[in-house]
Amino acid sequence: MVVGLAVLGGATIAGVYAPPDGLITLVLLLAIGLVQLALAHTIAAHRAALGSLRRQFQVGLALAIGVSLAGIGAVALAMFVSPHDALVLGLMLVFSAALGAYSASLLAAGVLGDVRSVQGAVKAVGEGRLDVSARTTASDELAELAHAANEAASILAVREAERDAAWKAHRDLIAAVSHDLRTPLTSLRLLSEAIEDEVAGPDERTRYLGEISNQIGSLGHLVDDLFELSRLEAGDIEWTMAQVELDELVGEAVETLQPQARAKGIKLLSTVPAGTAPARANPERLQRVLFNLLQNAIRHTPTDGSVWVLAESAGDHVELEIADSGEGIDASDRERVFEPFFRGARSRAGEGAGLGLAISRAIVEAHGGRIWLAESTSGTRVRLSLPTAGV
Ligand SMILES: Nc1ncnc2c1ncn2[C@@H]1O[C@H](COP(=O)(O)OP(=O)(O)O)[C@@H](O)[C@H]1O
Ligand SMILES: [Mg+2]
Repeated sequence: MVVGLAVLGGATIAGVYAPPDGLITLVLLLAIGLVQLALAHTIAAHRAALGSLRRQFQVGLALAIGVSLAGIGAVALAMFVSPHDALVLGLMLVFSAALGAYSASLLAAGVLGDVRSVQGAVKAVGEGRLDVSARTTASDELAELAHAANEAASILAVREAERDAAWKAHRDLIAAVSHDLRTPLTSLRLLSEAIEDEVAGPDERTRYLGEISNQIGSLGHLVDDLFELSRLEAGDIEWTMAQVELDELVGEAVETLQPQARAKGIKLLSTVPAGTAPARANPERLQRVLFNLLQNAIRHTPTDGSVWVLAESAGDHVELEIADSGEGIDASDRERVFEPFFRGARSRAGEGAGLGLAISRAIVEAHGGRIWLAESTSGTRVRLSLPTAGV
């Protein structure tokens, strides 16, 4: 490029004046260009040795001005201009070089300010402060860098909040598990001490043994539920999916729980319209969800109330609803009922560990479905949607 430009310059002078002038111009331009190029490449190669950006700017500027001054000096000599003209030319050049240096340093100060802003923000992020924001004064690459740094900080902040929430959930879970294990263990210890005690008669011992067996049974359920939930949450799901006819599945669940409902004086009904699309599901898991939901409904509905199951197709999904005319769920609890170990304020002690809905949600979501509380003016409506089996 330097050669091309020098030839162009030489040719122009040769055309306007005379060929010898053109030749001198060509030689001068080539000399200035090559010296400047060589110096620029050397400096660029040793940029690291120059240190700060400010220093690099200064050296770059000094190079441009220095070589131009030398070039103009050479031109003045070669053209045999008068000392007077050469002095005026030199002064003008120094003047414009000083102004150029000033303008360049203004620009450099802006760039350096922006670099410092990004640097400060990145450093703050490194120290764990994620609410920082790098601000720059132009819309250049540094602004893009600042934007990227700000974006990274806000992504990190979101991740950190998620991690904190997950940790809190984890700690709460461990606290809840320990509490739920400690209570039955304490009563088991007391019962076995009572049996060992010589004072207890045979009838009492039999009663205590019955109670021990109950406690062991519920501990077993709790551990099974916990195991199931942890497997579900770990994504350990190797189920065979099948085409599940909802009228059959709902029919079985209702039939099994009918005695329990009748004993409490509750009407248990189901409606699955003919032609309701079959669900794509694992029948045992889906049955388990239905049981959990129906048992909750029966448990939280008083005598003379009713519990009903509805199914309906909805596009490429089927929806199931388990509704009851019971006490309903407090507005303040609605958000949390699907969390592990959450028991509503109206739940009575010993009624359940609060894992039923958490397990149900995990199962439904593992099927690619969704479970939620539908709005209701009285009682509770739990709805879930599942993908239909492609028929
Ligand atoms: N049908 C319902 N009516 C009223 N409250 C309900 C109903 N189903 C669930 N709940 C509330 O949600 C909580 C969590 O339910 P669940 O996870 O099944 O736990 P558990 O049945 O072991 O208490 C219950 O303690 C109860 O307060
Ligand atoms: Mg339950």
